[in-house]
Amino acid sequence: MAKPAPTTWTSKLLQAAKLPPTIGMKELLQAASRPEELHKAFASDFPIESYSAIIVSHYGNTPKDYNMPEQYRALQGFNDILPDEQSYWRLIENTAVQVAELYGYRRIETPMLEETSLFRRTTGEGTDLVEKEMYSFDDRPDKEGKYDNLTLRPEGTAGVVRAYLEHGLFKWPQPVKLYYISAMFRHEKPQAGRYREHHQFGCEALGESDPAIDAEIIALLYQFYTQLGLKGIRIELNSIGDQNCRPAYIERLKDYYRPLLDECCDDCKMRFVKNPLRLLDCKEPQDQPKIAAAPKIVDYLCEPCREHFAAVQRFLNIYDVPYTLNPLLVRGLDYYTRTVFEFLSAAGGRTEALNGGGRYDGLAELLGGAPTPGIGFGAGVERISRELKKQGVKPPAEEPLRAFVVYFERTPELKDAAVQVIAQLRRAGIKAEMSYGDRSRKAQMKQANASGASSIILIGEDELAGNFVTITEGRKTWTKDLPAEGLEAERKQVKVERDKLVEYLKGL
Ligand code: HAM
Repeated sequence: MAKPAPTTWTSKLLQAAKLPPTIGMKELLQAASRPEELHKAFASDFPIESYSAIIVSHYGNTPKDYNMPEQYRALQGFNDILPDEQSYWRLIENTAVQVAELYGYRRIETPMLEETSLFRRTTGEGTDLVEKEMYSFDDRPDKEGKYDNLTLRPEGTAGVVRAYLEHGLFKWPQPVKLYYISAMFRHEKPQAGRYREHHQFGCEALGESDPAIDAEIIALLYQFYTQLGLKGIRIELNSIGDQNCRPAYIERLKDYYRPLLDECCDDCKMRFVKNPLRLLDCKEPQDQPKIAAAPKIVDYLCEPCREHFAAVQRFLNIYDVPYTLNPLLVRGLDYYTRTVFEFLSAAGGRTEALNGGGRYDGLAELLGGAPTPGIGFGAGVERISRELKKQGVKPPAEEPLRAFVVYFERTPELKDAAVQVIAQLRRAGIKAEMSYGDRSRKAQMKQANASGASSIILIGEDELAGNFVTITEGRKTWTKDLPAEGLEAERKQVKVERDKLVEYLKGL
């Protein structure tokens, strides 16, 4: 491919990315390696993954010109979670673990790979997830030439229920309350907030149909978001009935849609045949008035479902959890019965589900188990992380560096002493660093300064001979531009015997 002139290429790129022409190439390339920031800067709905995709697609075979080595990239829709992002993940995970355990949920991890039929049977043949989004493949054949078809877990509930049945968890006191934080894989069209690998914090309560547990699981989520510091999250709640009342409602819904089908989008025509409840989930503008006027399932609930739903609301009021009834809320997976809910964030203009969940009382039976009620949710870690950033919630800072060890001359003896000191500090739980690569004293001092360490530990010939170290404190008075030699004089210096060093630093 011929190399386009940088100016043409740049403007094309900016045009394609719908970015203002004022942004320079350098900034664009820098920003493309940090798409979240670019996204924030432009506060647009433009899918964040596309910046780097656009750069790659426009790059042709001339990357060297822009200091970008030709290299492998993560698959589209698969993300590296880099260290700067990890503080948000740590906050989410720590809060998830803390709140889930507070509510009596215990951790479970199930395998990432399961038999394909596990998901087909539970999630439903007609769903987008099963029809279009599963990463499925044939396993290697065994000695007899037999092989299984396997699928990378697209959602967490089916595996947890399989584990519950396989390990006889139904013999434990019920309900069995479990949580997980796991990767999920869906071959979706990547866009902002929608990835091919994403992670879910999920909870599942198995073996109990009491509506108080529906309220418990919603209250748990509410506490989770509140504790994270998120605001303005809307809880939508509905009941989609059970096998007793839903079939009659679906007939009623089909009666309503039949005369309207010609004007419906193609997907809705398919849904009418395969999964009529999903007609209510269509996002096409032309179908919205039809959805708004459609019969509502809550008006067709049987008495037990109606009572159950009323009790869920009563308990939610006791928990003091605010919610909105959305009679049109249906979920994308087939296993749901009765209570369904989503938590939505409206920050940034677009409504996005941070989590979804509901009751699935018939799922265990689909897997060959005894009738076992269940309820749960999955909350998207990536979406929650985005939301934290959008709302300006700052995760706790990483533990700062306590000490940086500098050795004055590039001799093996001094370097050994530096390694000994750093080993001594780390064994004692003190976060410490040293410089590698035999840099000059001046370069080491610069590094020590930039590291943010509150103490700098100096080791020279005198220190080595006298078995002590010199510690300089008071980084605030130390400016980056001062020459290294002047630095020690500017700062308070203390001589400390090597075997008193840990005690000294811990006492500061
Ligand atoms: P789900 O609604 O398909 O439900 O997914 C749950 C949450 O995972 C979504 O609300 C969203 O935050 C996140 N999520 C889903 N797909 C993606 C994606 N492609 N990229 C980023 N985030 C995504 C389930 O998976 C059910 N298993 C939840 C459940 C558990 N119901 C009962 N128990």
